[in-house]
Amino acid sequence: QKPLTLGIAGLGTVGAGLLELLHTHKARVAERAGRPVEIVGISARSKGKDRGVDTSGIKWFDDPVALAKDASIDAFVELIGGSDGVAKAAVEAALNAGKHVVTANKALVAKHGVKLAKLAEEKGVALNFEAAVAGGIPVIKTLRESLAANEVTRVYGILNGTCNYILSTMTDQHRSFADALREAQDLGYAEADPTYDIGGFDTAHKLAILTSLAFGTELGFDQVDVEGIQSISEVDIEAAQDMGFAIKLLGVATRTEGGIEARVHPAMVPEESAISEVWGATNAVAIDADFCASLLLVGPGAGGRATASAVASDVLDIARGAVMPPLVTPTRGLKPYTKSRLGRH
Ligand code: NDP
Ligand code: HSE
Repeated sequence: QKPLTLGIAGLGTVGAGLLELLHTHKARVAERAGRPVEIVGISARSKGKDRGVDTSGIKWFDDPVALAKDASIDAFVELIGGSDGVAKAAVEAALNAGKHVVTANKALVAKHGVKLAKLAEEKGVALNFEAAVAGGIPVIKTLRESLAANEVTRVYGILNGTCNYILSTMTDQHRSFADALREAQDLGYAEADPTYDIGGFDTAHKLAILTSLAFGTELGFDQVDVEGIQSISEVDIEAAQDMGFAIKLLGVATRTEGGIEARVHPAMVPEESAISEVWGATNAVAIDADFCASLLLVGPGAGGRATASAVASDVLDIARGAVMPPLVTPTRGLKPYTKSRLGRH
């Protein structure tokens, strides 16, 4: 069987996790994909860095864009990050060269997803991004495939592992915000610039992607109302606990008569609700749909191994030749976003 050849750009938390997974489960992946999956090229910023994974026999590329369009690869895996710059340039180069693309980059998909998806469609290749929302939780496939025949009325949940880790650690270990953030960074959960996490923007990127898939509206990251967790103090957390609540950073997108309302903000969640029990870097995504009622998906929302698991599932889909539906499948009569009219807390 002809192998599927991969070029992987970005060998940090997620990239190293993917190399480890593809090495550990080489035989399993080949069996499930129906053919071997081979990494033939890699790229990152520093060539000599010890990444704790075996890269022997894999060709190094100083420039991710050169890797993205190299004749030796069938699919390009972008694990660099950032909505613009080299990540975008490399993904565009790969698509233009007729390569399939897998990315975990929610900032890129939220900002340029529609344009990139159209380019992928034109070129007849895949643009897969399961890892871009909620790490290891298969929420993209759930919306694109399992719930495709439903009318979704609401999608909401905890979509950022770093923020949930910080809030959980402040609650159960009475640690300071700064300490908890540092730990989340050390564990590989945070973005390169953690302002994206604590400012709520990473959750907004993910919510914009979920909104597109759930409601068929164009991505509108800049139309999501965003408030982060920077101002949450230990006193707020204790006061909420005394009243029987946990503080969680939620992303909420709701179908209303006036259109879709999308917002991100810290919320007081009753202790008896399932979402309040979600601790650490775990994420939870709740989906209300007309025929399937309510679904709650809970699982690891960040970290190298869990995210690599989602990236690998996208690679497997490509190896098997599975074709994903488009990013935005318009829903009849539905208007785009309205500014949130709901109460915030
Ligand atoms: P890291 O910061 O750990 O890794 C980024 C990688 O990109 C590094 O290997 C770095 O090289 C490389 N890189 C950065 N700039 C350049 C450049 N200009 N040219 C070439 N290579 C470059 O990030 P993560 O692995 O955490 O995240 C990667 C992507 O996955 C991001 O889009 C992130 O949002 C997303 N993601 C992350 C999750 C997580 O839990 N960490 C979960 C879900 C998605 P070097 O190592 O040499 O510095
Ligand atoms: N920084 C992100 C988070 C990574 O903490 O959720 C996963 O998308």
